[in-house]
Amino acid sequence: MKIDTELLRRFEEGLDPRKPEDSPIPARVLGYGEISTVFEILHEEQSDIAFKRMPLFDNMEDVESYREVYDRYHERLNQIGIVTPDYGSVTIETSKERIVLYLYQTKLPSESIGSSLIHRSSESGVHNLVLAVLRQLSKVWEFNKKGHPGVEVAIDGQISNWAVKNYTPNLGDPDAGEELLYLDTSTPLFRENGVEQLDVELFLKPTPPIVRWYLKKYYLQDIVDRYYDFRKVIIDLVANFLKEQKSDLVPGLVELVNTFFSTEAAGHDMSPITLKEIEEYYEDDASTWKLYLRVRKAHRFVKTKILRGYYAFILPDEIER
Ligand SMILES: Nc1ncnc2c1ncn2[C@@H]1O[C@H](COP(=O)(O)OP(=O)(O)OP(=O)(O)O)[C@@H](O)[C@H]1O
Ligand SMILES: [Mg+2]
Repeated sequence: MKIDTELLRRFEEGLDPRKPEDSPIPARVLGYGEISTVFEILHEEQSDIAFKRMPLFDNMEDVESYREVYDRYHERLNQIGIVTPDYGSVTIETSKERIVLYLYQTKLPSESIGSSLIHRSSESGVHNLVLAVLRQLSKVWEFNKKGHPGVEVAIDGQISNWAVKNYTPNLGDPDAGEELLYLDTSTPLFRENGVEQLDVELFLKPTPPIVRWYLKKYYLQDIVDRYYDFRKVIIDLVANFLKEQKSDLVPGLVELVNTFFSTEAAGHDMSPITLKEIEEYYEDDASTWKLYLRVRKAHRFVKTKILRGYYAFILPDEIER
């Protein structure tokens, strides 16, 4: 992958974070995250690249330490046997001295991504895909249990974070033996000798100071710990089907997970999950993120309309849940 850094710099200079698709250098959003935005730049030489824009940094030292942790997280995943697309990162500094980190990956066909596949597959195809994901997740916990003493790796299991590696347009239902790629590497959570390698407060940057303080005090550790908890990561994966408007699949998935727990993953000694747990988790989670988005919109309003300043983040419209 050859990145045209100058093009990216011009893109960032010209970007209106309120209307990312109307910028002078045309781009198309591939996915909105809670924190970052993934898009492609519509330019022939950059058409095979997916960029993730991270306007989180105040200075070069912070970017450099993030990049180092980001690279080491990939190494850990690869050590575990989780395959990631080719990747890299570039730091852009604008003429106004704003620093924005752009992560990039090989752009994958959008139809190969889990959140697209689940809408086109039969129920048994979805079960195969989820089973393939469960097997990937299981490798992480296997590693945490007996891999390297003192090293613990976290992961976000959501279906939108996985792609089928050898995707072809005529692929029917996914197979349980399908090779998967893990996409969502921008939250590189792992601990060495109990020390979180990432400065997790970075992820509070998109919120106003008072909210930041509050989230840090009451929520941050909890949110981070979730990604280290096998059972919670799986509950999150299944609950995500409610967000994807696929609630009819949830009871079958609960059963699939419990069978997995009592057979292949018996060594992890997991207690079964329940439908009620999934529903409660979803309600709680959906309302948290909704509130988070509203707070950020209010923050944007104050910064741009009242203080007439610049607001760096691209916010999605209200997400349908
Ligand atoms: N390499 C890629 N090729 C094609 N599409 C991608 C690629 N990476 C991400 N996407 C799209 O963007 C979506 C969001 O990406 P990803 O999961 O990495 O970030 P995120 O969930 O938005 O991150 P966060 O919530 O941590 O900010 C993916 O579900 C996928 O649809
Ligand atoms: Mg994701």
